Amino acid sequence: MSLSEGDSAMHDNQRGDSTQSVHGGEQRQKFAKSVTEPIAQTATYVFDSLSEFEEYKQGKRSHFEYGRYGNPTVSAAESKLAALDHAEAALLFSSGMSAITTVMLAMLRSGQHIIIMEDCYRRTVQFCDLLGKFGIESTRVPPSDLAALEQAVRPETRLLLAESPTNPHLHVADLEKIVPFAKEHRLRVLIDSTFATPVNQCPLDYGVDLVVHSCTKYLGGHNDLMAGSVCGKAGIVSAIKEFRDVVGTNSDPNTAWLLIRGIKTLALRMQQQNTSAQTIAEYLEGHDKVQRVFYPGLASHPDHAIAKAQMKGYGGVVSFEIDGDRERTRQFVEALQIPYLAPSLGGAETLVSHPATVSYSDLSEEDRLAIGITDQLVRYSVGIEDCTDLIADFDQALAGV
Ligand SMILES: Cc1ncc(COP(=O)(O)O)c(C=O)c1O
Repeated sequence: MSLSEGDSAMHDNQRGDSTQSVHGGEQRQKFAKSVTEPIAQTATYVFDSLSEFEEYKQGKRSHFEYGRYGNPTVSAAESKLAALDHAEAALLFSSGMSAITTVMLAMLRSGQHIIIMEDCYRRTVQFCDLLGKFGIESTRVPPSDLAALEQAVRPETRLLLAESPTNPHLHVADLEKIVPFAKEHRLRVLIDSTFATPVNQCPLDYGVDLVVHSCTKYLGGHNDLMAGSVCGKAGIVSAIKEFRDVVGTNSDPNTAWLLIRGIKTLALRMQQQNTSAQTIAEYLEGHDKVQRVFYPGLASHPDHAIAKAQMKGYGGVVSFEIDGDRERTRQFVEALQIPYLAPSLGGAETLVSHPATVSYSDLSEEDRLAIGITDQLVRYSVGIEDCTDLIADFDQALAGV
């Protein structure tokens, strides 16, 4: 069995988000009539004879061969991910970064050039810089700035990479504009849709070539697994799989099973997280101890109109700047009682981070400020706790600022 193509019968885009989260991409008939997907905990697979192996290699029969090339539980997760993102095929990786790095290494070669939109996840930006070692240059442009894009394109440019929404300023890529631009210049478009999830947007519907997710975040949803995914048309996903089979960035059956279980409640969680984040963003915007709020659901966000046209919900991350100095901001973060101070997002538990101390501590102050990571910036990933409790917690922590 080579790759996990979503069962087209399950690609029922007319179904509601929760029905898709529960049933999307799943086979109704499972091993031993189990309701849930069994975990196939094996590293390799038995062939009854060498002729059976030969028939498998000739594509005459489907069979799993070896754990790095495929696994039934991993395939079931991939099929579900494909259904959710309206894709022909999906692949599961050991983390979001292994998805991003494998996809880029599979698609690019020395002498080529990529364009990356600014305000992407720190490690993604670092990887683009690292690619320079292999003769692949990159240019950063401000999110959705078509004039800057036009200037950045070179004859050897092959890929346009953007996050939407971005981390941590929640910029939204204008897919209606970017995709035709990319097609005109024969570029492939790769969107990291981690912050949105398939519940809030499906970039493939806009003609994007590939979508990646850090499944560690909302898709897993419980801060208890690490995984990443890529999905798109079967041909390109198959080429990426060949590369993954060599480099071994695949996921494992236990993680795949946890991911399938997490996805069952994806739409329910996202509804709650979208609603709470909007309420919290509005509350913070009206608070005199808060200087600025970044949330695409607010009319004050520069990309609000794009987000409104493109997204069904605005996600669960709210970033904001405290009206105070670095010390006051750190005191505020530590005064919050419900969130954990931890560097991730998208789970049931609310998490808070001070990017200047946590993710960007190794940058000089000048470089950090140049990309908008101020001393006062706080990133808050809303969990599924009651919103009234989260707001009461803000009240007490902000009172101390
Ligand atoms: C937008 C985004 N993409 C990718 C990643 C990397 O994912 P992982 O931590 O699963 O490797 C992260 C991690 O925070 C992220 O925020």
